[in-house]
Amino acid sequence: MTVNIAMLGTGSIADDALAPALQQVAGANLWSVLSRDRARARAFAQRHDASGPAPAHDALETLLADPDLDAVIIATPDHLHAAQAIAAARAGKHVLTEKPMATSVEKGEAMVRACDDAGVKLAAGYHLRWHAGHRKMLALIRAGAVGELRHVRTQWTFQVPDASNWRARRDTASWWSLSGVGTHCLDFIRWVMVPGCGEVVSLASTISRDVWNGPNDETAVVSLRFESGATAEFCCSVLIAAPSRAEVYGSDGYIHCEDTLTRFGAGVINTHDGMLAFDVTDPYAGEIRDFVAAIEDHRKPEVDGREGLRNVELLAQAVASAEA
Ligand SMILES: NC(=O)c1ccc[n+]([C@@H]2O[C@H](COP(=O)([O-])OP(=O)(O)OC[C@H]3O[C@@H](n4cnc5c(N)ncnc54)[C@H](OP(=O)(O)O)[C@@H]3O)[C@@H](O)[C@H]2O)c1
Repeated sequence: MTVNIAMLGTGSIADDALAPALQQVAGANLWSVLSRDRARARAFAQRHDASGPAPAHDALETLLADPDLDAVIIATPDHLHAAQAIAAARAGKHVLTEKPMATSVEKGEAMVRACDDAGVKLAAGYHLRWHAGHRKMLALIRAGAVGELRHVRTQWTFQVPDASNWRARRDTASWWSLSGVGTHCLDFIRWVMVPGCGEVVSLASTISRDVWNGPNDETAVVSLRFESGATAEFCCSVLIAAPSRAEVYGSDGYIHCEDTLTRFGAGVINTHDGMLAFDVTDPYAGEIRDFVAAIEDHRKPEVDGREGLRNVELLAQAVASAEA
């Protein structure tokens, strides 16, 4: 079986990561492309070998009307994810949406409902779960290598030259650093902790927006407590150029990930027991492989719509907590 997939959006993550990753996945086929500009869609389709007979679209309706299209990958600004996912679901297409899944809890809930009603898959794009080193690390944690989980800390930051990006504006995004990288920090924490530590029971945050004084967070520091009593914290920022970091602490040991929270599947992982060797593989290919397998095997994607929604709920809580 081949799953024909459309790319919605021709920007940085679609061009640099998702379309090249899609080409590596057996059974996945880039079929068509949506851009606001037909010529840009055509150039993207050519660049990435889209194979539909009329692959370039500048209207979502015509793209979705194609009976040979099976699924969409949504790689547009955050405020468009919900409407595009709901339209795709109503047209019977499976959805892999970039993170964060939506700009509000209500929109995220509407996405989950629309995909459930249509009987299509909804997956959220948290590629760090397919980092080969992270997967080895998780297997160690699940096997008890660090004992009982006590605390996890993640940090991912980048430095922007100005506030011109759509993430800085409230009409196109609800969060800036939290949307760009904080949502990944949070997903990493939930992936490692929820199965053993239970759900998040409390959250507190500090947010600053003092360099450009816009509506959305520039730096956010968020702390969490889980049902087991274990704790976690993450820091994200658009003001700091530095390597990313993830730290896992348990009753019997620790794991430190140096610069593994990136797009590239690389970095270094050290444990209390020595360095963890892993192959550098494309994490976006892993994400798309799981999406395609979920469609073929009639199972949930590894990061499904409900998990994407839970992440959105906690991002919203982080802002509310800082404003309280
Ligand atoms: N998982 C990851 O590692 C990762 C990394 C980066 C981004 N993302 C997510 O992917 C999504 C896209 O991010 P990006 O960095 O690729 O953004 P980007 O470079 O700005 O690209 C977004 C694309 O969406 C299309 N678009 C449609 N309406 C738009 C509008 N009103 N304003 C701007 N662009 C519009 C544009 O394509 P046309 O001009 O062709 O219409 C644009 O190139 C976001 O949700 C982001 O959070 C995920």
